[in-house]
Amino acid sequence: MSSSTWLTLAVALISLLLARSVIDERIIRSKYKNVISVGPSGMFGTLIGTFQLLLGYRDFIQEGYEKHYGKLFRIPTLFTMTFVVTGHDLLEDVRKASDDQLSLYGSIKEGMQTDYTMEPHILDNPYHFRFVHLSLTRDLGGRFPELREEVITAFSELVPPTDDWTSFPAWLTGKSIVLRVTNKLFVGPPLCHDLDYNDINDTYSDALVKTALIVGLTPDFLKPIVASTLYFYIPKTLKRAMKHVAPLVQERLEKERTFGKDWPGKPNDLLSWLMEKAPESDKSVRAITIRLLATMFAAYRPASMALTQALFDLATYPSYIPELRAEIEPIVKEKGITKESINKMYKLDSFIKESLRLRGGGKSSMPRKVLKDFTFSDGNTVYTGSTIIATGYAIHHDARHYPDPDEFDGFRFARLREAENDPVRYQMVSVGPTYMMFGNGRHACPGRFLVSALLKTMLAHVLMTYDVKLEQDDGVRPPDKWFTFAPAPNETASLMFRKRANLA
Ligand code: HEM
Ligand SMILES: *[C@@H]1O[C@H](CO)[C@@H](O)[C@H](O)[C@H]1NC(C)=O
Ligand SMILES: *[C@@H]1O[C@H](CO)[C@@H](O)[C@H](O)[C@H]1NC(C)=O
Repeated sequence: MSSSTWLTLAVALISLLLARSVIDERIIRSKYKNVISVGPSGMFGTLIGTFQLLLGYRDFIQEGYEKHYGKLFRIPTLFTMTFVVTGHDLLEDVRKASDDQLSLYGSIKEGMQTDYTMEPHILDNPYHFRFVHLSLTRDLGGRFPELREEVITAFSELVPPTDDWTSFPAWLTGKSIVLRVTNKLFVGPPLCHDLDYNDINDTYSDALVKTALIVGLTPDFLKPIVASTLYFYIPKTLKRAMKHVAPLVQERLEKERTFGKDWPGKPNDLLSWLMEKAPESDKSVRAITIRLLATMFAAYRPASMALTQALFDLATYPSYIPELRAEIEPIVKEKGITKESINKMYKLDSFIKESLRLRGGGKSSMPRKVLKDFTFSDGNTVYTGSTIIATGYAIHHDARHYPDPDEFDGFRFARLREAENDPVRYQMVSVGPTYMMFGNGRHACPGRFLVSALLKTMLAHVLMTYDVKLEQDDGVRPPDKWFTFAPAPNETASLMFRKRANLA
């Protein structure tokens, strides 16, 4: 393109942004006069504010939370009105709202542009999400031994115990272990051990996120064109996955034909559920693979982050190790690591939950698209088309909820549990308006029971088998990496492992 074409395009884009900002200002004045706004005001306020927010110059979410706790406030986001919901009462309003008013799927659909990046209407019936609860959680006890075996082999292969301290890249190791275990639940052996299938790992989510970002910024009428131009990435990954899934589906169908519907040895994994319970129109290998990858997208990254962060915390705060071992060892000696025995490890549960609290939640969490005008109990109304979010990160770092909120206090939740003699309220999987890691209400993460069992199994195994420490002896935790609104584990730092010194 010639430089004059570029110039024309640039001018057009800037005019579009300026015009949009003026329109937003009008909407604010006419519809949201009474709602607090955080960030620059005036005709181009939204435009300027959006840049400040996205480029990390101003943290309007945290600023608003501190100044206007308990209220609803708007943050500057061009193209859509975004409101942050804070405080117990308003969060309860959100929890109680129906799906046709405030919609998680509406927000994923917009954020991930799923109509273009996955399949049109995929979120009209996200049965694959329901299967997480139905297939993976309900029978957790039954599949636990398998899971534990997978955890143990994954560790022994990826972190072979040595007599001397050996360094392993923390993030890659955390991801590899979680990937193997989740794929075991999703597709089972032998595919879960297939190197090429496992190499798909981040490729799909990267492609998805990048494509979604660009398509999201495109005006609706151009979306199909832009999506198909940018689409190179996703179909390539999808095809690669289908190449592995197709023969497996074939094989399972054949066994079904020969030995009947409940053929002996039929795996109880997500793939079986999709093959059996998906609507007839979604039984193609392509449709099945898309749902597999979509579920993988929800599961793999947050679970790997949680494991990696918990390992960093174990290495950074070694003083917890003896007490955790003192809890775990007698339980394991008596029963081994079982579904029942990990339920008794409440200090371990507390330690991991504290890691999740401190490192997670996201500045923007629990996104909901407003599908019908919605009036909060304080009288404020948000109109159709806008978006509301909570801010898990601010909630998790709020001294009102957690004394010394920025300190890692591994037994914080264990002490509360003991003090109130309440075995349920403070455990990792319990959600509520002060603990947002897994969301809250009807859509709270259905994978959390599974992931809690997994993380505890993994940490218990690590504590029983290895000594762990930071690579540098300075005791400084490798700093998190931030992606605009969410912290993630340090990608380059390593952790040191050796065979536990006094291991018999
Ligand atoms: C530590 C790891 C994980 C974290 C922090 C996490 C967090 C979340 C959060 C915050 C939500 C949204 C809740 C809301 O907006 O109210 C969610 C939803 C979801 N998560 Fe997780 N998740 C984790 C692991 C998993 C795993 C392992 C699976 C699957 C095996 C999974 C499957 C899902 C699904 C299917 C949904 C959608 C729920 C729905 O349809 O209503 N997650 N998760
Ligand atoms: C993900 O795949 C890449 C190659 O595509 C590979 O180098 C990497 O080790 C894989 N990561 C995991 C966690 O398996
Ligand atoms: C990750 O940790 C290493 C070692 O502690 C450090 O040098 C690096 O700056 C950290 N990365 C980020 C993004 O902070």
